[in-house]
Amino acid sequence: MNPFLEVAVAAAHEAGVILREGYDRPKEISYKGDADLVTEFDRRSEAIIVGKLRGNFPQHAIVAEEGSGGSAASTRYCWYVDPLDGTTNFAHGYPCFAVSIGLLEDGEPIVGVVLNPVSGELFTAVRGEGAYLGEKRIHVSPVEKLVASLVSTGFPTHQRAKSANINYYWEFTLRSHGVRRDGSAALDLCSVACGRFEAFWEFGLKSWDTAAGMLVVTEAGGRVTNLSGGLYHVGDVDILVSNGRVHAEMQQIAALVAGQGISPKVSV
Ligand code: IPD
Ligand code: CA
Ligand code: CA
Repeated sequence: MNPFLEVAVAAAHEAGVILREGYDRPKEISYKGDADLVTEFDRRSEAIIVGKLRGNFPQHAIVAEEGSGGSAASTRYCWYVDPLDGTTNFAHGYPCFAVSIGLLEDGEPIVGVVLNPVSGELFTAVRGEGAYLGEKRIHVSPVEKLVASLVSTGFPTHQRAKSANINYYWEFTLRSHGVRRDGSAALDLCSVACGRFEAFWEFGLKSWDTAAGMLVVTEAGGRVTNLSGGLYHVGDVDILVSNGRVHAEMQQIAALVAGQGISPKVSV
């Protein structure tokens, strides 16, 4: 096994044990923003993962959501760690959350690991070697049209009233089989990779949310850009992920919403 992948998988499993033990028990919740939750489990998971990465690769840089990554000597390799992606779900005992660990070499994703510790689903990818769910090679869905697609999105936890995403949600809901809001961007990306969703978009994600999942999707044959179809780099403001086939349609609808400032009209 690729040595970077091996360490990342081991770290994800170790952290996953802690999260699995904690998710359906009462826990203390604190707030980083108006609806940005954090628990002791986010920090404990991060400590395990960062400790393991640092122990094995002391020269690598680490960017970890809860801030324990610190600085490192080398910038050639950089790990992006979300120790608990889906903290709101976790805090409510809703079993949809993940550990997400991605490695970039000179800015290019080369290893991605996303683990749902409750279901045990482990998504992995190494650049040029395909994407896997457990032992099984995965591919994006063959669906050609948005009207026959299940898509997904997420909403920011900071400055929520300023987000225009509800307008996109409205339009995509009416033009597809439906839009899911599962609450873990890393798992959303992997759901596109294995063909459960045809597409995913979101605004305001951070590098640690997407670094692992974007490689899983591209290695599964999918496409990752920004909402305008331009190059996406980890940490960019908006992201559009798809099976490739519905990408242009997703872009067109997004452009329509952005251009016309469409807002939902509700009558009851
Ligand atoms: C959140 C999840 C969610 C997305 C939010 C993220 P967190 O990550 O990925 O799906 O909609 O934008 O912040 O805070 O649970 O690590
Ligand atoms: Ca996250
Ligand atoms: Ca997190």
